[in-house]
Amino acid sequence: MQDREVAAPAAVDPRFRADVLAGLAMRPRAIPARWFYDRKGSELFEAITRLPEYYPTRTETALLHAAMPEVARRTGPGRAVVEFGSGSSAKTPVLLSGIAPAAYVPIDISGDFLRDAAAQLQKAFPALPVHAVEADFLNPVTLPDVLADKPRLGFFPGSTIGNMEPYAAVDLLRAMRGSLGEGAQLLIGIDRVKPVDVLVPAYDDAQGVTAAFNRNLLERINRELDGTIPVEAFAHRAVWNDAMSRIEMHLEALSDLRFTVAGEAFEIGAGETIHTENSHKYGERGTRVLLRGGGWTPIGEWRDPQGWFALILAEAQPFPAAP
Ligand code: AVJ
Repeated sequence: MQDREVAAPAAVDPRFRADVLAGLAMRPRAIPARWFYDRKGSELFEAITRLPEYYPTRTETALLHAAMPEVARRTGPGRAVVEFGSGSSAKTPVLLSGIAPAAYVPIDISGDFLRDAAAQLQKAFPALPVHAVEADFLNPVTLPDVLADKPRLGFFPGSTIGNMEPYAAVDLLRAMRGSLGEGAQLLIGIDRVKPVDVLVPAYDDAQGVTAAFNRNLLERINRELDGTIPVEAFAHRAVWNDAMSRIEMHLEALSDLRFTVAGEAFEIGAGETIHTENSHKYGERGTRVLLRGGGWTPIGEWRDPQGWFALILAEAQPFPAAP
């Protein structure tokens, strides 16, 4: 085809460039998992949520449906629901139709995803005030003034908190407490420790979708940062780190490799890896200690019959006198 107009490439996020260049220079090599989610990566993650081996999404969604009447009793009506993340999942409508909320406030760092998700939610709930807030929720967020007199309910599904090291997870929970204020509630999904023969296949599926999701990070680097990484020379690895109670995803070099990214030269030896994700799993008591570490007192807890996933309702209570 001749004279075809080619769309200008989207501007590259300078934080992506900085994280990749620093991450490849570090030892061990590590790139933050948040960079998986370009358009292709987001599509691959959607495909992951439908895999037979990937239990979290369907387990949590079923759990939310089942728990909704009791959650609604505990939260009461008239709360402003503040979702940490853009709320593009199927779970948000389940919560919003279950509790008679006063408003819906999705918070996300990515304005594009946020506006799309907010517009979709508004269409499904035309009478519900929706106030999207573009912000990095790792820091305390100032909520719109119209929410000043409304009790709040934070919503953080998907076990996204599992991506963080426990110290960072506690910082995040404390920032959420700061954003929502004392008296607020938080409904959070947390993935549980379970047998390794269930955990590993969930992150290394037979169809290779998770492998493609992991390798897409390298393809994204090649696309956006003018990289020369031989993607096929890296193998997807998902391993259970028992001491750290987490699934780790790595990309392992199958031979000695040299490549460039944004004009900088890198090398990696056969058998060495780039660490791309942690997905922490918590035990029954561990989930509660984590929440209390972040200033949240659990007041309700629901789990599936196998105990594979937990949905916890917690409250930002005044700190009690302690011995
Ligand atoms: C979106 C972070 C919850 O850790 O299970 C899925 C991401 N990575 N398969 C998870 C993921 C590989 C997912 N979270």
